[in-house]
Amino acid sequence: MSGELSPIDKAKFVAAKRAAEFVEDGMRVGLGTGSTAAWLVRCLGDMVEKDGLKIKGVPTSRRTAELARNVGIDVISLDEARWLDLTIDGADEFDRELTLIKGGGGALLQEKIVATASDQMIVIADVGKQVERLGAFPLPVEIIPFGWQTTRALIEETLVSLDVLGRETTLRMNGSVPYVTDEGNHILDLHLGRIGNARQMGQIMNQIPGVVENGLFIDICDKVVVGYGDGKVEIRDINAGTVELDRLDFMEEDNLFTDLMS
Ligand code: 5RP
Repeated sequence: MSGELSPIDKAKFVAAKRAAEFVEDGMRVGLGTGSTAAWLVRCLGDMVEKDGLKIKGVPTSRRTAELARNVGIDVISLDEARWLDLTIDGADEFDRELTLIKGGGGALLQEKIVATASDQMIVIADVGKQVERLGAFPLPVEIIPFGWQTTRALIEETLVSLDVLGRETTLRMNGSVPYVTDEGNHILDLHLGRIGNARQMGQIMNQIPGVVENGLFIDICDKVVVGYGDGKVEIRDINAGTVELDRLDFMEEDNLFTDLMS
């Protein structure tokens, strides 16, 4: 299988596989959304099946819930779990402080609620997601459909006084209709180029009526597991200030995706 995977997919896979090692028996685990998180869910499903791992998984989207159930993970709601031991999720960008941009997959609201309700959040990402300065990836902002054009105008007006390079906003589409999140909202993507002050941006965005949540995750992520296309992984722990290097081999038994790739 490994020969058929692109270097980015390999990087995502090794990050997910290494992060799965942090999951222990009895844990309540937040399951992220996106292609990297999907690798994680499959790795955990494999551990449930082959090693008898016993966990409860709290998914951050309907599609993750479906995948988790399909691979044999015991899925519960956040209300049932109340608090989680660990959440593992992908990201669209992360910086040195482990501030994140998330929401490229449209699940930022549930992702932020679940990550915030966890003792620990680990981000899994290919090295391409690592940035010096956040903002090249458009910042997703979840807004309610009612009066969305007014909300958009307010956001654009607010951006004038913020330290950013670009101020274009686009309504995320699903074909010819606006994209609808699992919570029934829309997403505005803010093409900022560079975010000078992420903390200020996050706070100000969330004060605008009509804005439900923004995709900046600040002081939420504890560790990042960065994957490389050659199997190398780097584990950075922001609290301990440590960087650990590891390497994973692509084994035939890692072939979690045979069914998808055939
Ligand atoms: C979904 C997210 C994802 O974690 C983010 O978009 C990264 O996705 P991928 O792992 O597919 O690159 O925030 O809302």
